Amino acid sequence: MENNRNEILLEARDLCKYFPAKDFFGRKKAEVKAVDKINLYIRKGETFGLVGESGCGKSTLGRTLIRMYDPTSGSILFKGQDITGLKGKQLLPVHRQMQIIFQDPYSSLDPHHNVREILKESLTAVSGLSSDEMEGRMVEILKKVGLKPDDMYKYAYEFSGGQRQRIGIARALLVEPEFLLCDEPISALDVSIQAQVVNLLEDLQKEMGLTYLFVAHDLSMVRHISTRIGVMYLGRLVEIADSDELYENPLHPYTKALLSAIPLADPKLAAQSRRVMLSGELPSPMHVPTGCHFHTRCMYAREECKNHIPEMREVSPGHFVSCPYTGGNKS
Ligand SMILES: Nc1ncnc2c1ncn2[C@@H]1O[C@H](COP(=O)(O)OP(=O)(O)OP(=O)(O)O)[C@@H](O)[C@H]1O
Ligand SMILES: [Mg+2]
Repeated sequence: MENNRNEILLEARDLCKYFPAKDFFGRKKAEVKAVDKINLYIRKGETFGLVGESGCGKSTLGRTLIRMYDPTSGSILFKGQDITGLKGKQLLPVHRQMQIIFQDPYSSLDPHHNVREILKESLTAVSGLSSDEMEGRMVEILKKVGLKPDDMYKYAYEFSGGQRQRIGIARALLVEPEFLLCDEPISALDVSIQAQVVNLLEDLQKEMGLTYLFVAHDLSMVRHISTRIGVMYLGRLVEIADSDELYENPLHPYTKALLSAIPLADPKLAAQSRRVMLSGELPSPMHVPTGCHFHTRCMYAREECKNHIPEMREVSPGHFVSCPYTGGNKS
């Protein structure tokens, strides 16, 4: 994992984020290990896709990386600086440089404020701008995301879902961040609008030199946009590879199952493909299985998988997998 270190923008080392879980009476019962010893790096200018089933910890990982949440343990490096322990005001420059766009553009936009007020609020993170400069920036960003300067005076409910997501993007990019956490930004949109928003994000990435962490439920959405992809299962990463490599040569049984769940448009290919079904229920995050978290649903599980916590290993350059029984060692 040590290649091209100078290009790395953001890195997690053994990162953990646990939430206390309470019972019906509010007593502390157990912990939810939403993010459990994650190691990853994201290179400057790339899009790192993050996929996994609902509740596996994708949003928690993203939000901990951008320091919306305090990590439980481990460390986060942003541009080589350890930002793990920063508190209060120390976090302001980090938050300006790492922004987020949300899944639901409606609930993330204040209904009582028009677009101008929403954007102005975001600009308070940038000091030393005159009111003319602020105005100029707001007009410029609205044009960049495909809205009109006059849209500034409208309220969120006056826009369509796709347009609202454009406002969310404008708000995030107004402060000229380097990193953008895109947390399922197209899942709530009509299929016809999804491609437009993805294209916009790609254009803006090139124009502004941005780095993305792009979170999605399933693998069908992220191939096109991602440089590399990480697959998450119950708080842990199980596989990381370049986007094409992951689709052409998936190694972890969980990745294979996720991929085989994608419907194939070509009926011939669909007939040839072997579907790997996931057996069993997704375990509760409060009672995760011992050893390899996936062993309770894995058709290849052995006795050792119940006790042994698998480590990520690099099976070919840049292709990491946590299962010790797949992929051999091609390097
Ligand atoms: N603020 C919180 N307090 C307590 N538990 C939380 C909190 N946020 C998340 N969790 C728990 O942590 C686990 C991971 O949640 P997270 O939202 O990160 O998953 P996700 O992969 O983003 O899911 P989804 O695809 O549904 O968005 C879940 O069990 C969730 O209930
Ligand atoms: Mg989420």
